[in-house]
Amino acid sequence: MTENDFVPAAYTHSIQEGFVTWKAPSNIALIKYWGKTGTQIPANPSISFTLDGCATTTTLKYRKMSLPNEAFSFEIWFEGSLKNAFKPKIETFFKRIETYLPFLKDYHITIETSNTFPHSSGIASSASGMAALALCLLDLEKQLYPAMDPLFFYKKASFIARLGSGSASRSIEGALVLWGAHQETRGSSDLYAIKYPYQVHKVFEDYNDTILLVEEGEKQVSSSVGHDLMQGHPYADRRFAQAHENISKLKDVFASGDLTEFIAIVESEALTLHAMMMTSRPYYLLMKPNTLSIIDTIWEFRRKSKTHVCFTLDAGANVHLLYPESEKEEVIQFIKDELVVYCENGHYICDGIGLGAQKM
Ligand code: PMV
Repeated sequence: MTENDFVPAAYTHSIQEGFVTWKAPSNIALIKYWGKTGTQIPANPSISFTLDGCATTTTLKYRKMSLPNEAFSFEIWFEGSLKNAFKPKIETFFKRIETYLPFLKDYHITIETSNTFPHSSGIASSASGMAALALCLLDLEKQLYPAMDPLFFYKKASFIARLGSGSASRSIEGALVLWGAHQETRGSSDLYAIKYPYQVHKVFEDYNDTILLVEEGEKQVSSSVGHDLMQGHPYADRRFAQAHENISKLKDVFASGDLTEFIAIVESEALTLHAMMMTSRPYYLLMKPNTLSIIDTIWEFRRKSKTHVCFTLDAGANVHLLYPESEKEEVIQFIKDELVVYCENGHYICDGIGLGAQKM
């Protein structure tokens, strides 16, 4: 498919006003997206687990104007308060998607949004937030064109979410999702994410993710700055090739349930992401001393306990602990005994793999 396939033909129905609510989850990448070109085209493919508990709920209220607006007419509310600070980001998003959702200027739009996780937790809400908003907009488009194919609905929701935030494209469906063209993965595309199309061993069906909140609050360097620093980065080409190779390797791992190899790939991806930050110009560090202490403690515990707990990181200091359901009791005890001391205010969030966004 190409971008043009997402430009709609004439709508068949007219809608005056109404509202719609969608809840979209966050996701955690196993193979990291880091670097992009053009309009949110990833420099390499990525794979993520869709989460379950960490999510954004968004209500979109729409009222048709008597004449189409010159500019976008909208307001945004976050957890009960009007948030004008969020408007520029949404304005940029609307400009990017207007060609694909040409009804936008016909309506006054009110966006009401809230997260299940604390705003201060350092968990990025852009993936779940943009996914929830994209689904609400697609829902309105489906009312204007009820003949829309259900499969196309999810594809276009992912396409639109991607234009808001790359990783948001992976927050529409569950449980294992791939975004970005990968030669050996059928149906993969740079334009939208797909459900992982191959066999997945049952050990991954109920995998756990406990997020250790090492540093609450805003991170110092945004992801968009980080993506841009991959342009002209001395290791960029090798890194992009490595992501392709790791996705190929994961295919066997997902089929066999080989957790030793899973751990080796996932931890290497996390550390490579941060190595890219440390070797860009300007270079920077998002890990904190407690991030490293946690990693060391996990390695020591894994050696002693013979469990399969491993870590991954996103673009921040927090640590995601991934482990199979059968080891949950032992790992939770380990977190309480040895890792909570490294968490800011002792905070951590227990989550697990989820099945994707839901209409409320
Ligand atoms: O979607 P963005 O632009 O916030 O980038 C996300 C990048 C990582 O979280 C670090 C990796 C990923 O694939 O989610």
